[in-house]
Amino acid sequence: MEIHIITAFPNMFSGILDESILRRAVQQRAFKVHLHDIRHYAKDKHQQIDDYSYGGGAGMIFKPEPIFDCIESVIKEHDLADVPVTLLTPAGDTWSQPKAVEFSLRNKLILLCGHYKGMDQRIIDELVDEEISIGDYILTGGEIAAMCIIDSVVRLLPGVLNDIDSAVTDSFQTGLLDHPHYTRPEVFRGLAAPKVLLSGNHAEIEKWRMEQAVEITRKRRPDIYQKFIESENDD
Ligand code: ADE
Repeated sequence: MEIHIITAFPNMFSGILDESILRRAVQQRAFKVHLHDIRHYAKDKHQQIDDYSYGGGAGMIFKPEPIFDCIESVIKEHDLADVPVTLLTPAGDTWSQPKAVEFSLRNKLILLCGHYKGMDQRIIDELVDEEISIGDYILTGGEIAAMCIIDSVVRLLPGVLNDIDSAVTDSFQTGLLDHPHYTRPEVFRGLAAPKVLLSGNHAEIEKWRMEQAVEITRKRRPDIYQKFIESENDD
């Protein structure tokens, strides 16, 4: 997968790509990130990419010219004419596991990171195909949201997770929150791991895990529980 990130703060991405599973995935060439710095497309000598809002009000707004130039030249250079431009913004559709699955099936992504108070509406009207929010809170910019998207998408790409970390049994992927997990020691500070998990009886273990997952989901996320029950009734 080829991921193009349009950002004014490309250095923010170095950490997540240099550690753990994502680092391994980069090395395995499961995906490649191309960082495109909006500032390189600013024409004036101060490399200005933002400006005051017409009509007044606090906060700076991304100017249209550098972002138009940046996106148009990236699309041309990398042959991305058919690739949707995804804007990260608190005004977007909420990110979810089904969306992560959908994105993981695309070969190429273009993620546009908003910043400051927002961006000139003409950018959104002319260049953006879809808007995504990672939740109902305001970040300083779209970069951290883009990282969440990259992380949740890349781990679904073939070969990125080994069997042990497999995404197949993830919370949400199964339609339920995850069941509790235990590892050695069997008794820690007087607290014993559930006996059933040590029984070797796989049918009993699966039954216990399912019951726990259903109960945790019912208590914590009645909305997800309801959907699960409806899908069970459909089968
Ligand atoms: N930019 C600022 N806040 C955001 C959010 N919650 N999701 C996506 N992009 C954002």
